[in-house]
Amino acid sequence: MKAFIFDLDGVLVDTAKYHYIAWKTIGTSFNFNLTETQNERLKGISRTDSLDLMLEWAETGMNLEEKKVLLRQKNEHYLELIQEMDRTEILPGVLTILDFTKKNKVPVSLGSASKNAQLILKKLGLLCYFDNIVDGTHLTHSKPNPEVFLLGAKNLNTHANQCVVFEDAAAGIAAAKAAQMVTVGVGDAKELAAADYIFDSLESIDSNLLQTLAAIS
Ligand code: BG6
Ligand code: MG
Repeated sequence: MKAFIFDLDGVLVDTAKYHYIAWKTIGTSFNFNLTETQNERLKGISRTDSLDLMLEWAETGMNLEEKKVLLRQKNEHYLELIQEMDRTEILPGVLTILDFTKKNKVPVSLGSASKNAQLILKKLGLLCYFDNIVDGTHLTHSKPNPEVFLLGAKNLNTHANQCVVFEDAAAGIAAAKAAQMVTVGVGDAKELAAADYIFDSLESIDSNLLQTLAAIS
């Protein structure tokens, strides 16, 4: 049987929009207007790497202390935005797939760059579905580096080629491919063209396909 590894933001829960709002606000502090297209490139990568990319696009320099202030402000704003979040923001199809994994004893890990992952899973009552969690607090490298998924496989005691990764970011699909894993892209087909399977929403994955992905006969 295969193991499933889920990204968090934009796959399990609709938090990608809150990251975008918070980054856009930070951008205005150095006169930078973050576009939706640029925001796609921030998906899946760490908080620090996101700020560095924005500064590069804005052609602006900043010292470490100034960066620390903006990173703190971004996270405080993000935490405010998600404060009222409840189970209605769990994305369509997620609970069906997670129930499938529980029922069929498919091993499940989280593979997220976010340092807020535990908090969000707890808030949404999803922690019980996970055998293992890899999040931003465990990682040295951002996606597209495969570290996040390789660590997930290791912690689940399985081989990388026995894992199926669910991702909404191009950087995440690249990371999973670099780890030799099967990839399921959720979202924009153009952004996720490199994935083995692409769906608008997890809701489009029926039980036959879930069985195939999990290699349950
Ligand atoms: C990823 C998101 O999951 O986590 C990124 O796609 C985000 O947008 C990154 O920047 C880090 O998240 P956090 O919660 O640690 O700031
Ligand atoms: Mg994501």
